Amino acid sequence: MGTAKTPRGRLPLSIVAIVIFIFFMIALLYTERFSSSIFKFKSCSRRASVAKSTKSTRDDGTTEDDLVNTEVDDRFEFDPNECSVAHGKWVFNSSFKPLYSDRTCPYLDRQFSCVKNGRPDSDYLRWEWQPDDCILPRFSPTIALEKLRGKRLMFVGDSLQRNQWESFVCLVEFVIPDDGKSMRRGRSHSVFTVKEYNATIEFYWAPFLVESNSDNPIIGDPKKRILKVDSVSKHAKYWVGVDILAFNTYVWWMSGTKVKSLWGSFANGEEGSEDLDTAVAYKIGLKTWANWIDSTLDPNKTRVFFTTMSPTHARSEDWNHEDGKKCFNETKPVSKRGHWGTGSNKQMMSVVAGVVEKMRVPVTFINITQLSEYRKDGHSSIYNELGGKLLTDEQRADPKHYADCIHWCLPGVPDTWNQIFWAHL
Ligand SMILES: *[C@@H]1O[C@H](CO)[C@@H](O)[C@H](O)[C@H]1NC(C)=O
Ligand SMILES: *[C@@H]1O[C@H](CO)[C@@H](O)[C@H](O)[C@H]1NC(C)=O
Ligand SMILES: *[C@@H]1O[C@H](CO)[C@@H](O)[C@H](O)[C@H]1NC(C)=O
Ligand SMILES: *[C@@H]1O[C@H](CO)[C@@H](O)[C@H](O)[C@H]1NC(C)=O
Ligand SMILES: *[C@@H]1O[C@H](CO)[C@@H](O)[C@H](O)[C@H]1NC(C)=O
Repeated sequence: MGTAKTPRGRLPLSIVAIVIFIFFMIALLYTERFSSSIFKFKSCSRRASVAKSTKSTRDDGTTEDDLVNTEVDDRFEFDPNECSVAHGKWVFNSSFKPLYSDRTCPYLDRQFSCVKNGRPDSDYLRWEWQPDDCILPRFSPTIALEKLRGKRLMFVGDSLQRNQWESFVCLVEFVIPDDGKSMRRGRSHSVFTVKEYNATIEFYWAPFLVESNSDNPIIGDPKKRILKVDSVSKHAKYWVGVDILAFNTYVWWMSGTKVKSLWGSFANGEEGSEDLDTAVAYKIGLKTWANWIDSTLDPNKTRVFFTTMSPTHARSEDWNHEDGKKCFNETKPVSKRGHWGTGSNKQMMSVVAGVVEKMRVPVTFINITQLSEYRKDGHSSIYNELGGKLLTDEQRADPKHYADCIHWCLPGVPDTWNQIFWAHL
């Protein structure tokens, strides 16, 4: 297969691309079998017969009953404890406009800047997520910044978490004057500072959360990767003192059926490691992460979030389209309710749920998997880059090897993840 022969560049980005290719190759080779029966949905208890009357608070603190909304809409106001945002539908709104664009936001990586990179269609920008049971509030940059006043917010995880971080920064940055904000990008740790609010919105790179030999520099070949499943402290020392932590980790674990795992010191090298089933290694790694959280953080001071797995759309057969095109040329979400592709492994999801359930420190899920599953139209696809360069026409004509169906265009789907995240803050 052509993927293995892709010339290796010097830049980490090209290595990331190779990782993506290898991942796709493996994803094509075997299909996960789901054991979904062990799943429990925590769905909303619908406040059924209660007629809805939204109370809105005016600036002067008085409230008024907004009776206009009462007729047909039986969805209640958003309440994070009652509304499951995971169940709902995408609604097309031709007059909806994202709060920013890849031309107005200066902090977007080229990897996510689809319009700038030549994406011609724009319908994918006009879908709004509508939970079945409640009304998800629109993202408000000023209220979001107010919630962050005097605080540090940090996204921790892989490139999808960076996708979410950049979305968040772009959703708020345009209300801050130029001299009131600054960005410092680092290899592992990047910090966006909002002076007036004394707030930071940070990103920390830890694709497995636990330590590995391929965090920095990235090792593209999954066979050479070794994970230190019992150790997180090298990364975690950067998480101390942060007020709001939002984690993720999933896709990097999925590059094979086994994960080379190590206890104790890296000095033991490969000999000291053991090949574990992915789900087993994932569970040990997450427990290491959970133990650190539980033993280090004060839940009265720190809020912890976990973004569930971001679906990949590498198998067009999943939605009955021509084989081998991946997410290329997709301009509409999947309309089949409950659509679930082969890129999202329910067993891995249940591992996270199981570990989090036993934690002392409460962790709030930003459950984005189902809503993003529908959005085969939201990926960077061929409007992507490789080794710091835009794809050539030849590469664009070969979506099977070059389309990025893992990362998302910005503006785009991760804005909705942040809309949900923000609603829970
Ligand atoms: C569509 O978007 C516009 C602009 O944001 C908004 O005013 C309107 O309420 C939206 N329509 C619906 C049905 O949500
Ligand atoms: C700014 O926020 C930090 C925490 O992120 C806090 O320690 C510091 O006291 C704050 N400074 C001011 C002037 O509020
Ligand atoms: C958190 O605050 C509550 C109420 O203020 C208190 O009862 C509890 O002991 C605190 N928990 C910790 C871990 O400090
Ligand atoms: C993309 O899809 C449209 C139909 O939705 C089709 O007309 C067009 O030929 C496709 N483009 C390519 C390059 O396959
Ligand atoms: C996320 O939501 C899906 C339903 O869309 C559910 O199956 C899954 O258990 C949820 N995951 C977690 C970790 O709560």
